Amino acid sequence: MKQPLIVANWKMNGSELLLRDLVRAFERQGPDLAAQVVLTLPAPFFSLARALLESGEISWGGQNIHWQDEGAFTGEISAPMIAAMGGTHCIVGHSERRQGWAETDQVVASKAQACLRADITPIVCVGERLEERQQDKTIEVVKRQLEAVITNLAPALLEKIVVAYEPVWAIGTGQEATPEMAQEVHSSLKKLLGTQCLQSPPVLYGGSVKADNVAALLAMDDVDGVLVGGASLVTEEFVRLCAYAGEQAKNNSNG
Ligand code: PGA
Repeated sequence: MKQPLIVANWKMNGSELLLRDLVRAFERQGPDLAAQVVLTLPAPFFSLARALLESGEISWGGQNIHWQDEGAFTGEISAPMIAAMGGTHCIVGHSERRQGWAETDQVVASKAQACLRADITPIVCVGERLEERQQDKTIEVVKRQLEAVITNLAPALLEKIVVAYEPVWAIGTGQEATPEMAQEVHSSLKKLLGTQCLQSPPVLYGGSVKADNVAALLAMDDVDGVLVGGASLVTEEFVRLCAYAGEQAKNNSNG
């Protein structure tokens, strides 16, 4: 059975209390978690994550890094810093950073490379804006965004990344893409990845994922997991979402 990958993106939310609560809820759930879970957290919670998630059953990481390993960049953090604390993943190119901090495809590519240099997994986000979907440019946009990242990566490194398709219009709106819409884009992204490496890295879907829609998304052939914002901030909802994802993975392998 292939374990789906469930990544929580807390954004600039949450607290140490929430992290403790979530970890306790997962502990109550028992070890049979059929999904792989990664919590991407604000940096002030890293040291608590290191302490609470020491067993490694649940992984954690960051939401953004600078593309340089060190230097005079006040307020920034680097991939080696996350790695040194035991973090294993970092989101790069989230649409909120592309829009709010004018991150270009090239900046996102440099950040992905910084993660790989530090031996942590970049979760590379791509996704079209509403007007781009309306103009039928979805595939063109997401391919351009992904190509910028993968062009300079050797196949062995490419197999170490995670890709997340997040349509901008679906983020935080409660209006998720239909499973078929996600499948169509994922299949194009996987074809593109398949031209560069043998083993396609996982492609996650993100944008208004909840406990109630996760199974239908994961039932699609090319949806390998989900990136979850709002629903990862409500302990019960997130634990339920992970449990449903695990059940769906069992159904997929039985069917
Ligand atoms: P959402 O956010 O689940 O709240 O839509 C997803 C994301 O931005 O990664």
